[in-house]
Amino acid sequence: MPLSKRRMLFRSLRLSLRFIVPLAAALAILAYAVVPLVDRLYLRWSVRDIDIRVDLIASTLQEPLTDLLQQGNRSKINALFSRVLRDERLFAIGYCTGGGSMPYRTQTFPKELDCATPGLSADKPGIMLKLPEGLVHVAARSMAAEGLPSGTLILVHDMRFFERRSTDTKKYIMLLFVVLGIVISLITVFVAHLSWRGWMEGVRAMLRGEGILRPFSRSRNSELEPLVGDLRNLLRSLDEERRYADDATIWWNPDTLRGLLRKQLTGDQVLVVSNREPYIHVQGKTGIEVRRPASGLVTAVEPVMRACSGTWIAHGGGSADREVADQHSRLPVPPGHPEYTLRRIWLTQEEEAGYYYGFANEGLWPLCHIAHVRPVFRNSDWEHYVTVNQRFADAVAEEARKDDPVVLVQDYHFALLPSMIRKLLPRATLITFWHIPWPNPESFGICPWREELLQGMLGSTILGFHTRFHCKNFLETVDRYLETRIEHESSTISHGSMLTLVESYPISIQWPPPWQQTQPTVEECRDWVRRTMHLERDCLVGLGVDRLDYTKGILERLRAVERLFELYPDLIGRFQFIQIAAPSRSVLEDYQALDSRVRSLTEQINKRFSRGSYQPVCLKVEHHEPEEINRYYRAADVCMVTSLHDGMNLVAKEYVASRDDERGVLVLSQFTGAAHELHEALIVNPYHIEQTAEALFQALTMSEFEQRERMRSMRGLVRDFNVYRWAGRMLIDAARIRQREKLSVRIGRSV
Ligand code: G6P
Repeated sequence: MPLSKRRMLFRSLRLSLRFIVPLAAALAILAYAVVPLVDRLYLRWSVRDIDIRVDLIASTLQEPLTDLLQQGNRSKINALFSRVLRDERLFAIGYCTGGGSMPYRTQTFPKELDCATPGLSADKPGIMLKLPEGLVHVAARSMAAEGLPSGTLILVHDMRFFERRSTDTKKYIMLLFVVLGIVISLITVFVAHLSWRGWMEGVRAMLRGEGILRPFSRSRNSELEPLVGDLRNLLRSLDEERRYADDATIWWNPDTLRGLLRKQLTGDQVLVVSNREPYIHVQGKTGIEVRRPASGLVTAVEPVMRACSGTWIAHGGGSADREVADQHSRLPVPPGHPEYTLRRIWLTQEEEAGYYYGFANEGLWPLCHIAHVRPVFRNSDWEHYVTVNQRFADAVAEEARKDDPVVLVQDYHFALLPSMIRKLLPRATLITFWHIPWPNPESFGICPWREELLQGMLGSTILGFHTRFHCKNFLETVDRYLETRIEHESSTISHGSMLTLVESYPISIQWPPPWQQTQPTVEECRDWVRRTMHLERDCLVGLGVDRLDYTKGILERLRAVERLFELYPDLIGRFQFIQIAAPSRSVLEDYQALDSRVRSLTEQINKRFSRGSYQPVCLKVEHHEPEEINRYYRAADVCMVTSLHDGMNLVAKEYVASRDDERGVLVLSQFTGAAHELHEALIVNPYHIEQTAEALFQALTMSEFEQRERMRSMRGLVRDFNVYRWAGRMLIDAARIRQREKLSVRIGRSV
C-alpha cells in the first residue's frame, strides 16, 4: 500500500478509535449486566420445568406406590424407587409419613434433608438448595389413598446440569459481545474511512472553489454543504484577521519586504515584467545618459525590486540601451550601485508600433479610461501584441532559475502574458497588476478580442487592481463574456483547473521618500523656483506634474486656472501656475492633438492675463528627472491633480510625501484612485471648471493651521500605506496561495 494511503487509513483508524474505545467499555458493562439476568431467567425456566416433571413423576407413582404402601412391601417400594431413579436428573426419592418420619428413601437421599426441611411444603413449587453434592431441587407431593394415612413424596432433582449450562451461557454471551464489538468496530473504521475521504474531497474541492459550492452541481457533497458557508466564513475571517494583523503590526520598509521574501517565500526568485524599463540609456550630447522614465509604474515597482534583488524584464527602448547591455541583454541596475538585474527585450519598429503604440495605447488605454477618446483596434496591432507577449513569456522562462518563480506581470501591455507563462511554467505564481482602471462590461465589450484578453489574464494566480470598484468591474466583465465560476464572497474566479484571486491593492510610493537626506530645504526650493522664474518672493505657486496625456485633465486644469483669474483678478501677478508635462507617446495623433491644444490654451491664458514679464502659466513640455520634480513639489503652494480617470495617480502621493514641512494643499480629482485614500485633499470634479477654480482659490487662501492638519493626516496615510506594503500584501497573499496549493497537492496525493 502506498505511504499516502497508509497514512489515510491510519487517520481513519485514529478517528475510529475515539468511537471504538467507549463502545468497548459500554459493551463490557452491558455484558456484565446481562449475564446474571440471563442466568436468573434460565434458572426460573429450569425450576418450572422440574416442577412439571415432579408433578408428572408424582402422579405416575401415585398408584403403584399406594398399592405397595398398603402391602407394606419395603423391597418392592425400594425397587420402584430405584427404577424411577434411572432418570438421570432425579437424584433421590423419599417418602414421609404424616407423622414426619421417612420410612422409605433411596440411598442417595441427602442426609441434610428430612421431612421438615424449611421452605418445603407439599404441592408447592420446589425449592433450590446448595448441598455439598451440588445444587439440588427439592419438591414435596402429597400421596393420598383410601385406607392409608396421608404421606408425602419428596423428590430431589440434581441441578448441577444447570450450573454447567450457566457457565456455558456466560461464555457464549461474552463471546457474542466480543464478536459484536469487533463487527461494529470494523464497520465504524470503514464508515469513518469513507467519510474522511468524502470530507477531504469536499475540503479539497472547497480549496479549489469547486464541487460543493456549485449550486446545481451533481457532484455536490450534501454533508458538507450546510457547513460550507461557515467554513468559508471562518477561513475568510482567519485570513482577514491575519491580514489585518499583518497590516496593523508591520511597519513596511525594504527590510520588511526582504524579510517577507526570505521567510514566507523562502527566498524564491522574483521576476518583474513591464513594458517600460526603469532606466533608459540614451545618446546625449556628451555621450550616453541615463534617464528615469515618467511612469507611475516604474516609480512604484523600482523600490520593490531593489528590496527583492530579482530580475526585471522590460522593453529596451532607449537609443543607447544595446550598448550598455551584455550579450544576454542583461545589465545590473541602478547604475553605479547595482541591486538587481535588468533584462532588456529588443523589439523591431513594426512590433513597437503594433504592440505598444497600436494595441496597447490606441486600443486598451482609451478603452479602460473614460476620457472620451475612442479606442482603435486593428488586426495587425493585435497580431503584434500576441507576438510580443509571447516574446516576453519566453524571456520569463529563460530567466527563471526554477520552475516555480514568483512573476509580477505589470499592466495592460501584457494581458496575454499570464496564460502564456502558465503554459511554460505551470507551477509559477503569477501576480498581475493592472495599473489603469478597469471599465464596465459594456465598455470593455467594444474590444474585438475581449475573450482572448480575459482568458490571458486569468492565467494569473492573483490579479490586482487599485480599487474594489475596478475589481467589481472586472468580475462583472468576466461574468458577461466567459464561462467561469465566480465566487463573489472570496473574490475568486475558477476556470478550468485554475483559480484566480481578484483583489484590490492600492499602489503607493516609497517611504521615506528617496531624497529625504539630500534634498534642499523647502525655503531653498521656494527661492530656487521663484528665482529661476523671475517671480516675486511672495508669489503663490501652483503645480501640475503629468505625462502629456489626455486622461490627465490638463486642459480642464488650465481652464480652471483661467477661470480663477476671471473670478479673482487680484491674483493676477500674484499667482504662477507651472505645468510640467513629460512628452508621452507623441507619435500618436491624439497625443499630438493634445499637445497643440495644451500649448494654445496656455498661450491664450498668458495672452489674457500677462502683465509685463509676468506670464501666469508656465508650460514645460520636457523630461524632468524625479529629483528635480521633488524640488518643484516642495516649492509649490498647491498641487493640482485633475485626471479625468486614473487608476491611482502617484503624483498626488509624491506631493504629500515631499512636504515634510506639512504645508501645501492638494487639489485632487474625484476620478483618481488616490481620492479613495487622500480624503483631506480638496476633492474636485475636473469637468466642473468653476468648482475646480474655487477649490484652487480655497487652496491658495487656506490658513497655515488647516494646511498642516490636512497634510499631516495625508502624510500619515502615505507613510503607513507605502509601496512596500502594496508589494508585501500581494506577496503575502501569493505565499498563502502557494502554501495552500502545496497543501492541496498533498491532500490530493493522499486521496
Ligand atoms: C501609466 C501606465 C504605465 C506606463 C506609464 C507611462 O502609468 O500604467 O504602464 O508605463 O503610464 O507610459 P509609457 O507609455 O510612457 O510607458
